[in-house]
Amino acid sequence: MKHLLDIKALSASDIHALFEQARQFKNTPIKQSQKLHQGRSAMALFFENSTRTLTSFQLACQRLGIDITALNIEHSSTKKGETLRDTLLTLNAMQTDLFIVRHSQNNIQQSMAEWLNHQTSIINAGDGTNQHPTQGLLDLYTIWQHKKAFENLKVAIIGDLKHSRVANSLMDGLTTLNVGEIKLYAPEALIPESRKTWLADDMKSCIQDADVVVMLRIQKERFTAEDPISIENWHQHYGLNQERLQWAKEDAIVMHPGPINRGIEIADEVADGLQSVILEQVKNGVLMRQALIHQLLS
Ligand code: NCD
Repeated sequence: MKHLLDIKALSASDIHALFEQARQFKNTPIKQSQKLHQGRSAMALFFENSTRTLTSFQLACQRLGIDITALNIEHSSTKKGETLRDTLLTLNAMQTDLFIVRHSQNNIQQSMAEWLNHQTSIINAGDGTNQHPTQGLLDLYTIWQHKKAFENLKVAIIGDLKHSRVANSLMDGLTTLNVGEIKLYAPEALIPESRKTWLADDMKSCIQDADVVVMLRIQKERFTAEDPISIENWHQHYGLNQERLQWAKEDAIVMHPGPINRGIEIADEVADGLQSVILEQVKNGVLMRQALIHQLLS
């Protein structure tokens, strides 16, 4: 595997191999894993904001002994009119082993891989509304840690699915792993056409007997004039509180990729509650990214 651009490129056995690698890294002292890729370098190009994804990639690289440089886009020559292709070719001339790229344009990392004639690895850290494969992988890994098998699971995903690259990667990964059932809930206009068969009639039937409940942020920054959605009263109609969580299985886990908007898609009592694995997802993000980068560079 040279790049990771889309989670659909991974088979079930690829995903399970990454779970196993992440599990091994969990038990490996950092001093030891830092010897694995000494002398290699990576560059993080984040054209969109990030808290957890960027720092998680930075830590993953450091724990593998890889020097990582994060380009400060605000202070880069992009602001002087340099094209993305020229920026990439310039940075590539410095002989890096890996680019980690987040961008608002769907599929841009595919073009970038082609501009580099597939000579340097690229990881997609989020492209527009399309894919966020490493978030999908860390979400799958978190589910696997808690539930072990996917075939009999019901996964409920609630919120702004139309603009969610996280949900796309998760749903595609769950499909590859042959998950029992996926149910979605949101205003119909926020469900992509291709996923409408999974839309539940109401919040209760979406959550009922679920093993995993995934909440999503309303990504207002991606709304266009074609999204005439009122987000007033969102919590009342689509928010998860403790009372609604009772509809799920008793041992259901609650997930959210972050950043969370408390009191909108999720109540404090759930975000901070015993069933929440939101911070475990963050922790697993470093391990899963370590596993992936190790595979790409080995
Ligand atoms: C998400 C993203 O950027 O797609 N966040 C993340 O990477 N953890 C989801 C979001 O911004 O709501």
